[in-house]
Amino acid sequence: MKAIRNVASYLFGAGALGRVEEVLRTDPRVPAGPVVYLVDHFFAGHTAPLDKLPRRAMDRLVFIDTTHEPSTGQVDQVAAGLRSDLGGLPAVIVGMGGGATLDMAKAVSNLLTNGGQASDYQGWDLVKVPGVYKIGVPTLSGTGSETSRTCVLTNYETGVKLGMNSDHSVFDQLILDPELTATVPREQYFHTGLDTYFHCMETLNGRTRNGIVDAYSEKAIELCRQVFLQGDMQDQASREKLMIASLMGGAAAGNTGLVHPLSAGLSVVLGVHHGLANCLAMGPLAEYYPAEHAEFTAMARAQGIVLPTGLGAKLSEEQIAKLHASCIVHEKPLSNHLGDDFKAILTPAKMAALFRAM
Ligand SMILES: [Fe+2]
Repeated sequence: MKAIRNVASYLFGAGALGRVEEVLRTDPRVPAGPVVYLVDHFFAGHTAPLDKLPRRAMDRLVFIDTTHEPSTGQVDQVAAGLRSDLGGLPAVIVGMGGGATLDMAKAVSNLLTNGGQASDYQGWDLVKVPGVYKIGVPTLSGTGSETSRTCVLTNYETGVKLGMNSDHSVFDQLILDPELTATVPREQYFHTGLDTYFHCMETLNGRTRNGIVDAYSEKAIELCRQVFLQGDMQDQASREKLMIASLMGGAAAGNTGLVHPLSAGLSVVLGVHHGLANCLAMGPLAEYYPAEHAEFTAMARAQGIVLPTGLGAKLSEEQIAKLHASCIVHEKPLSNHLGDDFKAILTPAKMAALFRAM
């Protein structure tokens, strides 16, 4: 049994982004001093929301390149750049973007106060002291990064994709504005939104259970059904519901099952983004998740989303071997679904067949 830490303060509703200045200046919990905005580079070309961020001479805005998923090297680089530019620590970090940017904000915050390198903190409870005060502003719903206690980083030198799992990785505050997800491209909105569906259904189908996590997961799935099975997933009501589902899924963040390990393989070996990788991973998993597979398929159909096919046929034997290696290391989620003898079930031949069927 373990105590669970949640985000302490939420501001939720259309137009919430316009309240950033009020939060920074009047909330007694927010430390005074330089504010660093770490913003998804998407907004370098879509600057209207940035006008709502109050920027004084001492503040900084840094665009985060999210072409690839966050790496330890990128965290080291951003933290070092801020240290030399500011000549000290910022008082507040505001992360604004999708899961990749939010994870960067959390990791940079931790690294700035803990020192060393980002890779020193990949694992469980390795972050020693609280990071810089951090506020999350999600612009995409589904990853749950806004409420989770991790920030997933890939170390390209070692090939390890592992988060800084720590209570210190939890945001201090969130500003949740569903208007921000109105302009997300439909495919990306679907792939990322389904991330929360997968987190929750994998948790509910697993052996490791917790009543609170289950309750959050059940509600998040119910909201996903409302968003994706009927009407337009991106109308105002659906955007609000998906934002809530995402934060509940992130707060639940239980142990996952089969989708996430297969998905991690696709991301590490082939560079497929997490949301799409999950959807591709679910493709051949009907035998393990029959009801959820049918539901996921119905969701895609209802929203007119066509998922890519034919990936498996193009994979080389070497790639299949690498995919197996980077999937089978995820022992906690694999055993959560299949039991301790998961390696006897997910043999190299079985795994190859799953990847070939994508
Ligand atoms: Fe995920």
